[in-house]
Amino acid sequence: MAAPSCPALLAACLALLLATAQGDGCGSFGNVFTEIAENSAHGSLVARLPAGGDAPGAPLQLCLIGHDAAWFYLDGRSLRLNASNGRALDREELESPVLMVALTCAEDGFSPVEYRIIVQVLNENDNRPHFQGASDLTHNVSELAAVHSVVFSAQAEDADGDTLMYVIDTASPDARFFRIDLPNSGKVVLARALDFESRQQLEVVVTAVEMNTRERFNASARVRVQVLDGDDQYPQFLPCAPRTHRGLTLCTSPVYTANVTEGQLQTGPLSFSPGDVYAEDGDRGLRAAITYSLLAGQESSRFHIDNMTGAITLLRAVESSRRTPAISLSIMASQVNDVTKFAVAQAVVRVLAPNRHPPRFPRSSFRAFVPAGAREAALLLTYGGHVLALRARDPDFPQGVNPQVRYSLSSSTNHSHGQHRDQHQEQGQDHSQLFQVMPNGLVVARADLLQPAQRYRLQVLARDEESGETSSTTVELEVLWPGQAEPALVPAGPCGQILPDTPQSLLPQ
Ligand SMILES: *[C@@H]1O[C@H](CO)[C@@H](O)[C@H](O)[C@H]1NC(C)=O
Ligand SMILES: *[C@@H]1O[C@H](CO)[C@@H](O)[C@H](O)[C@H]1NC(C)=O
Ligand SMILES: *[C@@H]1O[C@H](CO)[C@@H](O)[C@H](O)[C@H]1NC(C)=O
Ligand SMILES: *[C@@H]1O[C@H](CO)[C@@H](O)[C@H](O)[C@H]1NC(C)=O
Ligand SMILES: *[C@@H]1O[C@H](CO)[C@@H](O)[C@H](O)[C@H]1NC(C)=O
Ligand SMILES: *[C@@H]1O[C@H](CO)[C@@H](O)[C@H](O)[C@H]1NC(C)=O
Repeated sequence: MAAPSCPALLAACLALLLATAQGDGCGSFGNVFTEIAENSAHGSLVARLPAGGDAPGAPLQLCLIGHDAAWFYLDGRSLRLNASNGRALDREELESPVLMVALTCAEDGFSPVEYRIIVQVLNENDNRPHFQGASDLTHNVSELAAVHSVVFSAQAEDADGDTLMYVIDTASPDARFFRIDLPNSGKVVLARALDFESRQQLEVVVTAVEMNTRERFNASARVRVQVLDGDDQYPQFLPCAPRTHRGLTLCTSPVYTANVTEGQLQTGPLSFSPGDVYAEDGDRGLRAAITYSLLAGQESSRFHIDNMTGAITLLRAVESSRRTPAISLSIMASQVNDVTKFAVAQAVVRVLAPNRHPPRFPRSSFRAFVPAGAREAALLLTYGGHVLALRARDPDFPQGVNPQVRYSLSSSTNHSHGQHRDQHQEQGQDHSQLFQVMPNGLVVARADLLQPAQRYRLQVLARDEESGETSSTTVELEVLWPGQAEPALVPAGPCGQILPDTPQSLLPQ
């Protein structure tokens, strides 16, 4: 007997000829609803088709047809899983977790009957959660982000559709900066304020854990949080002096100083100390452009400031250093993009008198005398009992008097005992206890501490405090006996030469 052929419609079906089929033909079958776990092995029993009575009947032809038919095969009356060729039944891979197959039954002399086989594929936890993209994630967060606000969202997936909860790994380096308030959401909240100026990068590990499974598989992602600079800092003048104040390190503006000369207009910008006028945005990550200006002041119109570079030039010369010894300027540096973010520094421009000559003593050496005695202060005298006055002249000034000249006694002052000055000579002794040079050039001695016949060689310096120039002279001092008269004239100096003697020029003015 020829086997009935499958209907043309079912050409793709898997046909099975049950040559020994029994029972009451195709009528013994019915629709089948069943289930099978995913990942079941090849050959697993899916359903047993009903057996009919024991009367041998005509041969039946059974066909499995339809889209999902290849998942099954018939083994006698058993419907089994076809997972051959390493093709596992993976629920997550299926278009639908329900497989549907039509079973057609053909019997000689009857039209074929069609039954439905519906197999639900049961889920197993065969997938672990994983983070989208890589397990190394980067997020940018502004340092101005509010505490308690959501700064990023960690999203993991689980192919089995398991419910996930997210936790911050407290062992990760910067865990204390972050918090997850709603464990199922993956939304990470900022727990404490960020500060770009102290930390630019944070690292935290977020773990997603399955909540509703026995295995509780988990996955972790290392999240690098790049802190972005927000505009929260003001410009700073440089070089700044760091100072600590109540635990804070402050950057205080320098006072810029420069010199100009009276009556002179130098070309080019002034040269300031401790450096050029320069300010920077305190937000290192933003470095907003800075613009400079001078705050209006008494003398500010005399100057021009380059709004881009901060270079200051003198526009009109200062007429008199005596009337205007110094000019104070207030320099403002502000962000071009936000003028309310600014800093102000002071600049002092000192007006110097023109200096062409150093101060000079009229002589390189003077003779002086002082009587030993009980007095605590005695003026040094020169020939004929005139008061010795050491005056350095500065031709830059009228009458040669530079008010900036200061006198001092050099520490390299020699001292000897006895008539011969090379006896017991002591070098470089500090005689500031014994002698003092007054601002007017007079020299005062502690006569009560001096012994008759002592000789001293004092070195006196005159320094122009404005220009720094110095000049020196030597005073050969002889201590006289009380009542001993000062020599009237000097025939010979210490080295035998005749000293020019003009007592009038030595008189105090
Ligand atoms: C099982 O499936 C494979 C792959 O789809 C197929 O080649 C094979 O013919 C099937 N076996 C049966 C018995 O249906
Ligand atoms: C983070 O910011 C940098 C620039 O600062 C940018 O290059 C990068 O694309 C940003 N990354 C993200 C994830 O937004
Ligand atoms: C993640 O799983 C590992 C082992 O599979 C376990 O040691 C670890 O504690 C789990 N982490 C969390 C946060 O559940
Ligand atoms: C700087 O000054 C020039 C003109 O002197 C002006 O055109 C420019 O807008 C100024 N720039 C800023 C930032 O103020
Ligand atoms: C002091 O004496 C030394 C050596 O005798 C000499 O070199 C030095 O110039 C003297 N100092 C003064 C201020 O005369
Ligand atoms: C200005 O002059 C004084 C001396 O008069 C000097 O000490 C100072 O260094 C000068 N300053 C500058 C910036 O040149």
